[in-house]
Formats: sequence, structure tokens, C-alpha cells
Amino acid sequence: MLSIYYDYIVINKLNQPFIFNMQSYSILESLLFFNPIFLFGKEKLKRTISGKTILLTGASFGIGESLALLLADSGAELILVARTEEKLLELQSKIRQMGAKAEIFAADLTKDEDLDKLISYLSSYPKDIDVFVNNAGKSIRRSIFDSLDRYHDFQRTMALNYFTPVKLLLYLIPKLEMTKGQIINVSAVNVLMIPAPKWAAYQASKTAFDQWMRSVAAELRKRRISTSNVYLPLVRTGMIAPTKAYEKMPAMKPAHVAKIIARLIAKRKGSYQPWWAIWGSLASVLFRKIWERFV
Ligand SMILES: NC(=O)c1ccc[n+]([C@@H]2O[C@H](COP(=O)([O-])OP(=O)(O)OC[C@H]3O[C@@H](n4cnc5c(N)ncnc54)[C@H](OP(=O)(O)O)[C@@H]3O)[C@@H](O)[C@H]2O)c1
Repeated sequence: MLSIYYDYIVINKLNQPFIFNMQSYSILESLLFFNPIFLFGKEKLKRTISGKTILLTGASFGIGESLALLLADSGAELILVARTEEKLLELQSKIRQMGAKAEIFAADLTKDEDLDKLISYLSSYPKDIDVFVNNAGKSIRRSIFDSLDRYHDFQRTMALNYFTPVKLLLYLIPKLEMTKGQIINVSAVNVLMIPAPKWAAYQASKTAFDQWMRSVAAELRKRRISTSNVYLPLVRTGMIAPTKAYEKMPAMKPAHVAKIIARLIAKRKGSYQPWWAIWGSLASVLFRKIWERFV
């Protein structure tokens, strides 16, 4: 019902069907992920994004892949980074067929030498970067008692989710200052809640970078670099596939998330969190015991 109403607003009032088709969601998902601020015209998106040079990490699968295709369709020039070179090549060829520009850089961003190579590649890139989307991420859900011999879980999540964007940004900030650019951090709604059991590695690393971003945001704003945080609930991608418990849980679609991020790029400001995040955050404190049992 709600999704039909949603489509009605978009198609009849705006006549600009740049909107995720909520009908692909269940009723519960439509309720959880409904957000009227996403009414945004496709043409406006093209006008504002076309010609921008966008660096996107984690472009090979999931949210990154959907976002790459949407941004290419909006006329952006893309630099796509991930480990899986064949997938990046496939994506590049699709984007070129769409008439857009995409360069690819295969790198394992947990490795310092790969990060250095990426930075040196960016230094010789002929165009300035307008937008950096920090999207590559590693998630781990594991009890601390199953992690006692797995220090590497904590190293890997910190390496990719925290040290990678920090190192890239230490290089990129002066460049973004020249272009009055933008940083988009793809984060998780968990960082707005009290810490959940079994999520120590992931949540600590995502929260660390969230704190870093929020700390530097005011300084960056003074130099005209804008920052946006995208606090996502579950999204149906390869990341959650190994967790059986998530199969039947409400989850956003990567194509929907891509539209949310594209809109933030077009507006050059704002952040995203689901409408219920503040209530979820409060409930996680008030009903801590129940929260800890079910999360
Ligand atoms: N899915 C969710 O429920 C959810 C919820 C909240 C937030 N998020 C966040 O959303 C972002 C995107 O996740 P997703 O759901 O789209 O997951 P995904 O489908 O697993 O994609 C993760 C991306 O990161 C890349 N990546 C992983 N390890 C890498 C490494 N060592 N070096 C370079 N690239 C690496 C992967 O490419 P390669 O494997 O080719 O390297 C892939 O392109 C992440 O930051 C995640 O934390 C996801």
C-alpha cells in the first residue's frame, strides 16, 4: 500500500522516476526504508554529477557496483578500486558501453604497498578528484570466544575500515580542497547504537572511522570540503550472505542505497540514516538486555 503511494507521489507529482521502486520491498521493508526526501529528479542528478571525477572503493560488488553504474549513467568519470580485477574489467566495459568513462585500479587495500601504489596512481591521474566515496568494507560477526586465536580479524577490519580511508584521505584532503570536493563515508547504523554482541571487530573499526570523520568534518568544512555519512541498516549484498539469520530479515537493496548516495553527491551535503535510527538508538539503551539477546 505504502509502496504504491510512494510510486504515486513520484510518478504523478514529479514525473521524474528517479526513485527506487519500493514495490520490490515487502510491506515491512517499505515501512522501514521509506524516506520521502529521496524524491529527486534524474535530470537534476545528471546536471549536478556530470563531469565530476569520483574515486570509489569497493566498486566490484554490492553497493559499490550499483553506485558505479548509477554514477556512470549520470555522466561522472570514475576511478574504481577493489581487489577482483576481472569484475572491475567487466564493470569498466559495461560503463564504457554506456558512453561513460571509468578507470580501474585493482588493489588489496589492507596492504600498505597496494595503498601506496594507488596513491601514486592517483598522483599521476590527469584530473583532480571531486568526490571520494569510502565504500570498501569488511564485516565480521563472531563471538569473542570464537575469536581468541583470530587476532587477524581485528587487524583486517581495522586495516580496511579505518586505516585505509585515513591514509587515502591524508593524501586526498589537499586535492579535495582544490576542487571544493566531498567525502562520502559508507557506514553502518550500528555505530549509532550501543555496541552489539559478536560485532566487536566490525563495529569498533566502523565506529573508529566514523569518529575520525566527525572529528575532521568541521575543519574540512572551513576549507569547503563537504562530508557525508551514510548509516546503513542491513543491505542485501554478498556481505551479509554468509549469515543465515539475515536471510529473512528486512534489508535494503543495493540499488536503493546507490540512489541515496548519488543524491548526497548531487546535493553536496547531508547524511543518511533510516528514519527509525534515533528510536533504535534510544531503544538499544533502554532495552539493552533484550537488544543484546536478539542482535
Ligand atoms: N551489506 C550490509 O548489510 C551493510 C550494512 C551497513 C554498512 N555496509 C557497508 O557498505 C559498504 C559496502 O558493503 P557491501 O554491502 O556492498 O559489501 P560487499 O558486496 O561485500 O562489497 C564490499 C566491497 O569492498 C571490496 N573490498 C573488500 N575487501 C577489500 C580489500 N581488502 N581491498 C579492496 N577492496 C576490498 C570488495 O571487492 P573485492 O572483494 O573485489 O576486493 C567489494 O567491492 C561497506 O563499507 C560496508 O561496511 C554494508
